[in-house]
Amino acid sequence: MASDLEPQNRKWGHSLGKRQGFSSSLGVIAATLGSAVGLGNIWKFPYLTGENGGAAFILVYLICTAFIGIPVMISEFIIGRKAQSNCIGSFKKLAPGKPWFFTGWLGVASAFLIMAFYTDVAGWVYAYVFNSATGALTGLSADATAGAFQKLASSPIAPLFWQWLVLLTVGVIITFGVQKGIERITKTLLPLLFILLLVCDFRSLTLPGAMQGLEFLFKPDFSKITGLVILTAMGLAFFKLSVGMGTMITYGSYMGDKENMPATAVRVAFADVFVSILAGIAIFPAVFAFGFKPEAGPSLLFITIPMVFNSMPLGSVFLVIFFLLSAFAATGAMISLLEVPVAFLHEEKQLSRKAATIISILIMGGMGVLATLSTQGNLLGSVSIFGKSWFDAFDFMSQNILMPVGGLLICLFVGWKLGPSAIQQEASNGGQLNNSGLLKVYTFIVRFAAPIAIIIVLLNGLGLIRL
Ligand code: TRP
Repeated sequence: MASDLEPQNRKWGHSLGKRQGFSSSLGVIAATLGSAVGLGNIWKFPYLTGENGGAAFILVYLICTAFIGIPVMISEFIIGRKAQSNCIGSFKKLAPGKPWFFTGWLGVASAFLIMAFYTDVAGWVYAYVFNSATGALTGLSADATAGAFQKLASSPIAPLFWQWLVLLTVGVIITFGVQKGIERITKTLLPLLFILLLVCDFRSLTLPGAMQGLEFLFKPDFSKITGLVILTAMGLAFFKLSVGMGTMITYGSYMGDKENMPATAVRVAFADVFVSILAGIAIFPAVFAFGFKPEAGPSLLFITIPMVFNSMPLGSVFLVIFFLLSAFAATGAMISLLEVPVAFLHEEKQLSRKAATIISILIMGGMGVLATLSTQGNLLGSVSIFGKSWFDAFDFMSQNILMPVGGLLICLFVGWKLGPSAIQQEASNGGQLNNSGLLKVYTFIVRFAAPIAIIIVLLNGLGLIRL
């Protein structure tokens, strides 16, 4: 009798084979958080919050993170750990001969689009490490601080130099495979960034007029909410958690049998939101106190933070450290982005890792030039595609279209193709975790709630339906 049941009831587990996995649960959290925390927290979250009206936007973003972002992250972990492969190979393995692997292709496309503008912004951060270290940002008035950023962003040469330095740095790290080292660096530097944000928060909150910034952050005004604002908040939730494009599939494939994947996703999301809110508290009270406009756009970080530090003792030292830590956080996030096409070209197209890296970097660099030169006041500043600059178009395409579509397909794949019993099996580690109630809720979300919500938000945000 018992032996009849054995094929289904065989000992649960995965063979990691030749693939090298994460060594510990802390390593898993550090790597996932290292991918999630980046320019999204200190640059994108504040500037989108500023442009989209503050607290109400944050609320929608939090709802999207809880009910869409976290479930998509768990789904990616499930796919990756079950398949033990990259973001395209995983779909081929779990659904042989079916078109699901197309989802992985979308992910590779998103990685290129994101890197094109991400490396531009990371270049500004690198430049600010240098400029703050030479004292070029010390003691400037509010206008001069804004002017200094404009001068950098609109130059045809300097931002390209920094962007290529960023690409070179990330490329070298990836080819030499010192990811282990980066993991270690991230583990020590993320806490440092956290402490520095607290210092910033303290200064910002004690500036005269700080209350107005706090109200902007925490007192919702729902009249600001439109279909596009909701889509932007949902896109930010994807972007922030690095989900909807296969990064977390790859990370799932490095996880061991004992990892509690749902708990990991929740912890990472909480920590990530926390860092973003701290960055918001550092920036918005200062925005109002110094008379800047919250809707300043991508330049927000680069004009408020120098002003905050300029107004405190030892500020010029803190400023260097702040941008240095930001540069590390951005670099960690970019490694996880570059890893997506590199793993694909290496494992699926049989290129060496070095060749795969060089090819990926060249494509990203080429697209990056378009993004960089399209900043306001730069050479391509007046060229528009679909009514946007190249920079904004890359950003919009990836964050507001490709990642939500990727997230939708990932939910449908896990919810319907793998199905409820595979979910129970995989996400409870073969029954070892006592989380079946939670997994029922999760299963309902990925089968019904999240797909429907994503479709509605997407179509409504793009103006294809009117609610
Ligand atoms: N989440 C990172 C940030 O907030 C960016 C990032 C890294 C990312 N890897 C990703 C975004 C993969 C989307 C997909 O800065």
